[in-house]
Amino acid sequence: MDSITAGLSPMKGGDGPYSYTNNSSIQRQGVEIAKVLINEDIAEKLAINEVISSSKLFSIADLGCSVGPNTIIVVENIIDSVKLKYQSFCHNYQGALEFQVFFNDIPSNDFNVLFKFLPSDRKYFAAGVPGHFQGRLFPKASLHFVHSSYALHWLSKIPKELKDKASPAWNKGRIYHANASDDVREAYSAQFAKDMESFLNARAQELVCGGLMALIIPCLPDRWDFCEKF
Ligand SMILES: C[S@@+](CC[C@H](N)C(=O)[O-])C[C@H]1O[C@@H](n2cnc3c(N)ncnc32)[C@H](O)[C@@H]1O
Repeated sequence: MDSITAGLSPMKGGDGPYSYTNNSSIQRQGVEIAKVLINEDIAEKLAINEVISSSKLFSIADLGCSVGPNTIIVVENIIDSVKLKYQSFCHNYQGALEFQVFFNDIPSNDFNVLFKFLPSDRKYFAAGVPGHFQGRLFPKASLHFVHSSYALHWLSKIPKELKDKASPAWNKGRIYHANASDDVREAYSAQFAKDMESFLNARAQELVCGGLMALIIPCLPDRWDFCEKF
């Protein structure tokens, strides 16, 4: 398994006023908007007859799930949508399909809060998977649906040029690239490209053939003028 030496800090756990739980309504809106697209893709593109083996088990992973409740909304929607698809394919559907959901985040994520949020009447088997999603997290060909929202823009590390005073990409101790030189932007961009490549390589091995992946990533247009917008 790949090891990633990231000094990432988790979202604020617990359920206090500053917790992610109580400060993630913007992400919630994005996730709600994406629901429609995910449902359409499951209906049109998921090859349910090919992906389900005789065990009738459907495995979902939410990568960078944080502490909830958004992740719970996401997985319930995916499950409902897959059930609909399965019913339309298999007319004598008798609830035979079983679901297992893997909630992944970095090891310091407050999984206890997430587990407390899980509905007691949930219709799926749940497990927490600590680890960095730039590396392998699951066995080969074991997942049917991979979801990740508002997490992939987190870099696995600070590009080293940004901390090197002798480099043209030295970022003067700042952690952002607004109004920085092109060298700084390029260093961030190169790290993002590396991280995405590692992420996609890992998922390519873990997803079953015919499975689906939904990625929601916040973006800015090229050459965004920070001075004007903020
Ligand atoms: C803004 S939260 C998004 C939570 C949730 N997906 C949502 O849409 O509300 C981003 C999460 O990604 C996690 N994350 C960042 N880098 C990660 C990595 N390399 N591997 C796993 N999780 C990561 C963070 O710990 C954090 O919990």
